[in-house]
Amino acid sequence: MEWRVKYIDYPSQYRKLEKELLSTIQEVLSRGDLLLRKNLEDFENTISGYVGVNHTIGVNSGTDALHLAVEAAGIQPADEIITSSHTFVATGAAIHHSGAKPVLVDIGEDHNIDASLIENMITDKTKAIMPVHLNGRLCDMDKITAIANKYNLLIIEDAAQALGATFKGKKAGSFGLAGCFSFYPAKLLGAYGDAGAVVTSDDSLAKNISYLRNHGRMDNGEVSGWAYNTRLDNLQAAILQIKFKKFPSWIERRRQIASIYNDGLEKISHLRLPNPPVESGDFFDVYQNYEIEAESKDKLRTYLTQQGIETMLPWGGKGLHQFKSLNLSEYSLPRTEEMFDKAIMIPMHPDLEDHHLDYVIKTINQFYRN
Ligand SMILES: Cc1ncc(COP(=O)(O)O)c(C=O)c1O
Repeated sequence: MEWRVKYIDYPSQYRKLEKELLSTIQEVLSRGDLLLRKNLEDFENTISGYVGVNHTIGVNSGTDALHLAVEAAGIQPADEIITSSHTFVATGAAIHHSGAKPVLVDIGEDHNIDASLIENMITDKTKAIMPVHLNGRLCDMDKITAIANKYNLLIIEDAAQALGATFKGKKAGSFGLAGCFSFYPAKLLGAYGDAGAVVTSDDSLAKNISYLRNHGRMDNGEVSGWAYNTRLDNLQAAILQIKFKKFPSWIERRRQIASIYNDGLEKISHLRLPNPPVESGDFFDVYQNYEIEAESKDKLRTYLTQQGIETMLPWGGKGLHQFKSLNLSEYSLPRTEEMFDKAIMIPMHPDLEDHHLDYVIKTINQFYRN
């Protein structure tokens, strides 16, 4: 189908960067710098400086970033990690594969974990909290940090959707023992394939993760233990470094788009919109997605499709506890379930032009008028 407004527009971004990308690719390939080379180190330093941490370890996906962070943090089978059900299955998988159990907590109005419900779910097996900063907005890290300190729990942030987002001036990924980013193509900063990174200021954790991503191989020729092969390719790192130059302007555009959507849709009483961007205040949101709650969501989605506007349902329309095969159906999470009944994501990417936004706004208004 030929969309009039695409949900994500990879070719449009590529056309704008083509010359610089191709010359970088040519340069890296002609040098033969493929794995664990300088482009990776440079990109890791760029991310560390940007997030405000001492170390970044590039790995081959956000999923592996979570997985290695959980393992390096010493999580053991039968431990419990508190997180939310409104997240990608990868968050739960990283916990599950360590042998630990994901313990699910309901969300609040902003679709992130409701920190006031966390304490109730703590048991003597709880070892960590994994806040997921969804849709480019930080969780309430004051409350989460206070709980973690009170009960001596680790914080491992799933910051896959939140590069550049801040809470009280501090960047996503810099609050916990470790933060995990995804550079999946559709993310705020996307590679041309899978890519991710763990960030941390803990020297020994960083060393451990750098061994875990590379078969456990240490500088002295020994191996640190049974490990994995999950390195971020040098070529992808070089590409991400090029894209990073545009990153601040992309965040600015995402925030502008969120503001335009907010102005054009806020009068529709059938919708609940994300918080609009603010210049001062605790939250600086970066709008990985623009996830609205809409009455008659399915009909709205069909109408938008007919009008050539591509939309998505978060995770296909279900939280972790609603996928039967994951065996988490013991949880009843009323706010999460209400949200999934209504949630739909409308186009959000920095290459959207104002006429696209006018059309989306006009079409949604038309739907509710009819
Ligand atoms: C919240 C969240 N966690 C984890 C991931 C996993 O990242 P990746 O797709 O890079 O493995 C993603 C992205 O897909 C995500 O959105």
